[in-house]
Amino acid sequence: MTAVAANLSRADLLELRDLAVTLAQEAGRLIVNDRPRGLGVAETKSSEVDVVTVMDRRSETLLRERLGQLRPQDGILGEEDGVSAGTSGLTWVLDPIDGTVNYLYEQPLYAVSVALCVGDVTRDGEWTSLVGAVDVPMLGETFCAALGCGAELLRHDGSRVPLHIRAADRLDLALVATGFGYAADKRAEQGRVVAQLLPQVRDVRRGGAAAIDLCFVGAGRLDAYYESGINAWDQAAGQLVASEAGAVVSGAPGEAPGKKLVVAAVPGIHTALRDCLFTASR
Ligand code: IPD
Ligand code: CA
Repeated sequence: MTAVAANLSRADLLELRDLAVTLAQEAGRLIVNDRPRGLGVAETKSSEVDVVTVMDRRSETLLRERLGQLRPQDGILGEEDGVSAGTSGLTWVLDPIDGTVNYLYEQPLYAVSVALCVGDVTRDGEWTSLVGAVDVPMLGETFCAALGCGAELLRHDGSRVPLHIRAADRLDLALVATGFGYAADKRAEQGRVVAQLLPQVRDVRRGGAAAIDLCFVGAGRLDAYYESGINAWDQAAGQLVASEAGAVVSGAPGEAPGKKLVVAAVPGIHTALRDCLFTASR
């Protein structure tokens, strides 16, 4: 179901995008201003290196409280607290801190990601992002987009600029970002793939926050980003920013982006990169 099927006008979408921006920025301020001294790991998830801090939890609680007040009819899928059903057919998809390990180590590339989606957000390929906002508090930047309305960078000083991808058509000159999961066997496989890719591109980056990587493709700060194993909350807002800025965002050949694979790239190198990843993973 698209925005039209969800009965949303362009004005509705822009209003929802602005709400996503307001929420992401409020949570972004919270995680910076309320970060406790000596922040540690509150709990671990899929492995001992897959961490949650008290601020991941507080950020998600804040976002859920605000949405409960402002949009009680909508569902919510959040990284820390899972799914809460709604009645509108729309679901907010929340990553309360993307780049939690960067946050833990006081590295600046972490973000709050807020998207509104239509469809079943628990099933790959069955949802569409309608609006998204990714706030990167330490950069003073919020990336946002609404379906069919383009993508923008809002600087915290109040200025705003439309986002456009770079022009690129050679994989060997491309700057490509990727990321790695938290399970050792998955990482070993991801390491084999990136080792094959590295000699075929300009260079590789591992920023540490999938939502930011996707926005950086949209902002022309990267030519491409790919990763396997990321969840809807990592990708929902950032992939809309990338695609609204002109990038092609796909999954494996013939598939929608999802947990198996996300490839976001400028059109001139998308197919070459995806083919190269496909060959490397066989
Ligand atoms: C992680 C980051 C990282 C990516 C991992 C994600 P988290 O999210 O986005 O860049 O490589 O796959 O799980 O755990 O920081 O929210
Ligand atoms: Ca995440």
